[in-house]
Amino acid sequence: MNHQPEITDCTATITATRPLGGGVTLISFHCPDIAARALPGNFVNIKISTSSQPLLRRPFSIHNVEGETVEIMAKNIGCATSMLCGTDEGASMQMIGPLGNSFTTSTPSFSTAILVSGGIGTAPMRLLERQLRKESRHVVHMIGGRTAEDIHTTGLTNIEQATDDGSAGFRGTVVELLESRIEDLEAQGPLKLFACGPDPMLKALAGFARQRDLPCEVSMETVMGCGIGICYGCLVEVKEESGNATTSILLCQDGPVIDASRLIL
Ligand SMILES: Cc1cc2nc3c(=O)[nH]c(=O)nc-3n(C[C@H](O)[C@H](O)[C@H](O)COP(=O)(O)OP(=O)(O)OC[C@H]3O[C@@H](n4cnc5c(N)ncnc54)[C@H](O)[C@@H]3O)c2cc1C
Ligand code: FES
Repeated sequence: MNHQPEITDCTATITATRPLGGGVTLISFHCPDIAARALPGNFVNIKISTSSQPLLRRPFSIHNVEGETVEIMAKNIGCATSMLCGTDEGASMQMIGPLGNSFTTSTPSFSTAILVSGGIGTAPMRLLERQLRKESRHVVHMIGGRTAEDIHTTGLTNIEQATDDGSAGFRGTVVELLESRIEDLEAQGPLKLFACGPDPMLKALAGFARQRDLPCEVSMETVMGCGIGICYGCLVEVKEESGNATTSILLCQDGPVIDASRLIL
């Protein structure tokens, strides 16, 4: 994992919004200092309103960067995300970023990258795909959701889908889809897995990666207060980098990306 970059606290103006269905909105912010340093896996922490409701900033993965603009994909699940998804172009919000570490793409040990995501966990995959393609890797997306409505593919290429109800692609979980395809994929050359999604999906994937001895990095989520290492609200228990002893890390600083071998299954 690459470490946390220099961060900026700025006023970011919304330049475009696009509803994608399933309660998800693609939102573009003009914030040149953050756009210039964003790496795949980084996130931003946004103060949605100038009032005390909601009081705390909310974290969102950086979905894409275009020039001086940072794009996020926000899913409406509560107070802050409902306000954010309903805000029009021209509004401004306080934004800190880029935050957190980033996925490690530069290791020479793989030729095919499998990007496994579930639900809104697809958000960081666009910037990651762009970086991997710059490095001439072959990229395959495996995207899972409960139904077709949960699957978002904006800006992504070479996608395989899995849904619990079979309404799009493979019927089953995205990890079961990967299991069904792994021999074909391994025949194409050395693999590395990159993932973001709900904890049960990440744990199932980490177990699979361990069984097959595949390198795998996962981006985790937890509730965050400050995003910058002050509140200790994002402590998660993981394994030490070597051995089986456990330790606590601050996900906003030592994550959100960790090696899957550190997940406690
Ligand atoms: C590093 C990181 C990156 C993220 N990237 C994205 C992204 O790209 N797009 C996106 O839509 N969301 C993302 N999230 C989640 C997003 O921050 C939360 O959905 C948001 O904070 C919810 O705020 P709210 O006020 O709308 O909901 P709240 O009213 O705070 O919560 C509504 C319900 O959702 C639960 N909840 C809140 N946050 C989370 C969470 N992180 N995981 C699971 N359950 C939660 C609450 O416990 C509650 O039950 C990310 C979170 C992290 C930590
Ligand atoms: S969110 Fe405050 S310390 Fe990590």
